[in-house]
Amino acid sequence: MKTQYPHLFSPIKIGNITFKNRIIAAPTSLMNLTAEGYLTPENIAYYELKAKGGVAAVTLGESIVHSKTGKSHDQQIPLDDPHVLSGLSSVVKAINRHGAIANIELSHGGKFAGITSIGGDVINDTVAYGPSEEILPSGEHVYEMPKEIIYEIIESYGKAAAKAKRAGFEMVMVHAAHGWLLNQFLSPAENRRKDEFGGSLENRARFLMLVLDEVRNAVGPGFPIQLRLNGDDFTKGGIHLEDYKELAKMLDSKVDLFNISCGSHDGENLFVRTHPSMFLERGCNVYLAAAIKEVVTKPVSCVGALYNPEQCEEIIASGKADMVEMARALLADPDLPNKAYTNNSSDITPCLRCYVCFENAVNKHIIGCSVNPVIGNEEACTSISSISNKPKNVLVVGGGPGGMQAAITAATRGHNVTLCEASNSLGGSLKFAAYVPFKKDLYDFEQVLEKRLKNSSAKVLLNTKVNKEYVENLKPDALIIAVGATPFIPPIKGIQNENVLLALDAESNPSKVGQKVVILGGGLVGCETAINLYKEGKDVTIVEMRSSLAPDANDFHKMAMNMELENIKKETNTTGKYIDNKGIMCTDEKGDEIFIEADTIICAVGLKPCTDVVEELINITSEYYIIGDCKRPRQVTQAVSEAYYAALDI
Ligand SMILES: Cc1cc2nc3c(=O)[nH]c(=O)nc-3n(C[C@H](O)[C@H](O)[C@H](O)COP(=O)(O)OP(=O)(O)OC[C@H]3O[C@@H](n4cnc5c(N)ncnc54)[C@H](O)[C@@H]3O)c2cc1C
Ligand SMILES: Cc1cc2nc3c(=O)[nH]c(=O)nc-3n(C[C@H](O)[C@H](O)[C@H](O)COP(=O)(O)O)c2cc1C
Ligand code: SF4
Repeated sequence: MKTQYPHLFSPIKIGNITFKNRIIAAPTSLMNLTAEGYLTPENIAYYELKAKGGVAAVTLGESIVHSKTGKSHDQQIPLDDPHVLSGLSSVVKAINRHGAIANIELSHGGKFAGITSIGGDVINDTVAYGPSEEILPSGEHVYEMPKEIIYEIIESYGKAAAKAKRAGFEMVMVHAAHGWLLNQFLSPAENRRKDEFGGSLENRARFLMLVLDEVRNAVGPGFPIQLRLNGDDFTKGGIHLEDYKELAKMLDSKVDLFNISCGSHDGENLFVRTHPSMFLERGCNVYLAAAIKEVVTKPVSCVGALYNPEQCEEIIASGKADMVEMARALLADPDLPNKAYTNNSSDITPCLRCYVCFENAVNKHIIGCSVNPVIGNEEACTSISSISNKPKNVLVVGGGPGGMQAAITAATRGHNVTLCEASNSLGGSLKFAAYVPFKKDLYDFEQVLEKRLKNSSAKVLLNTKVNKEYVENLKPDALIIAVGATPFIPPIKGIQNENVLLALDAESNPSKVGQKVVILGGGLVGCETAINLYKEGKDVTIVEMRSSLAPDANDFHKMAMNMELENIKKETNTTGKYIDNKGIMCTDEKGDEIFIEADTIICAVGLKPCTDVVEELINITSEYYIIGDCKRPRQVTQAVSEAYYAALDI
């Protein structure tokens, strides 16, 4: 078989190990460990799924080398605990089963360990040690790390690497990026020490150099050591590309593979750069890897919003980097490498860059992805998703993402599926995404679902509005109701005027939108509509009756949106009263009237579920499921997941 991506799928030798292709699963730490930080079967299944998908190597996320001082989250693998070995060995076996190399990230949280405000080791009340003493904005005290602890930590890197090798890992990644310990020592903004670990670049790099030497002593020559380094901290007073180039030259002889990332977990504008938001170009950080590659002799990998195999092929072919690393793209579709290799890229589920995975990890301590209902539930899905031994006639009502996913899964399980959609096209509420540049991933996702549906055995009937009689005549064994939601229209005077558009119509018909725009409703949909129109050069004001914008967005996406909303006019605590042909009259929080001129008013005050249709369709068949927005208007993540599991239940 001839792959379309010969460079991406060519082998490469790192140290004395041959990697089968150029794709590495970037480190992702997960919260579903035991309270002690031991690997669970779910966690192992997650890493195994990535290996099965065809990557050359799978990297376990931040694992702590010195847990007394280094834990930066509640749940991290403590590499200095003897009981972690069996879990590590098991995960290696699971990864190796599919021909992938197991890699593990050796890490230390530095000043953020023991900091309760970010969920450090709250149980043991660890002292936080950074390069220099400081009081964090949270009021928490960071102490200057004494030299004896520096040397203890260096030794623990070696011990951790030796343990990883013993468990069967064939590469270790030293984490010196993203604002953790080694990055803190590198940064002149953080490191104000007067001893041999502070001052010049050489001194600030001493800790890292000694760590790399210790790791090399532990693993021996030829064993691949990967270094995760920033190409730019993007912080005031931090290290920038030119200094990183100097540093990379100093480290070149000590590592086998550089992975060039950037930014930090600490700071809104940094987080959305380290994990590029939907508002940034895919591969926006590749230039950093390319610049480092110019000055080192060892291979370099890049990371950040990479998923498109064509783009990855171009990166390797043009010599910008030797390997690509992906985190979220493989949560969204662990099979990405296999699909690309077999020239089936159009079936890759794209990552939406919606940050739901982070929200799940940080706030719920689970793994979950908007577009991949299996991730985080791998074990349960393998046992139940097999072909049904009792095929049924299934009617799916609604062709939005929920209905499409349900029909695809039910058909894949061998049921006879018919999907009816009232309008003349599939996509439901996602149709708007085709018109919004930063929703390209969402549009691609909708297209992937359409294609899968077309290729499935399910019958699709457009322009077919289902009612009670329809179901009674068809007599399906099982009914999936996925009829979605419709925009809520507030009862204010003038709302039916010609100068008022619904958000969905405004996005799909940009020519109908005037220059001066008021968005009525500052929820997620209103804010994103505002951002899109602002980017198109419109004069936009958001009017929101609540005190804050987008309470329905997850915290991480809100960070990204807030940066985009910075220059957009916002009137919070402000309520629309009536609309005329010149604009909208509102009242502010004091009850004073303010008139905002506008050519177009866009109504984005929320959606209401199609409860009437649901009520008409239930209790006709013995088996029925209500899924997605018609249950309660939410997002793709719930529509897709509820659809998938309903189809598994049939
Ligand atoms: C403007 C806008 C922007 C959004 N942006 C995002 C975003 O960026 N990210 C995100 O995750 N979510 C977003 N959402 C929410 C997301 O689109 C919904 O959560 C998701 O589409 C719900 O899927 P669903 O299949 O349940 O319903 P829908 O997508 O609403 O689909 C329901 C379908 O059922 C059909 N139907 C209704 N009645 C019948 C009937 N009687 N017979 C046959 N067919 C019928 C409808 O025509 C429709 O096609 C957005 C929503 C809107 C309105
Ligand atoms: C759920 C999740 C957990 C992550 N955990 C880690 C981690 O433990 N260590 C690390 O260096 N990076 C971690 N990252 C960052 C990724 O390795 C990667 O650098 C970043 O997400 C950008 O790549 P992407 O756009 O392909 O997701 C994590 C990312 C995600 C999505
Ligand atoms: S949850 Fe969203 S950002 Fe995270 S991997 Fe899935 S689609 Fe991508």
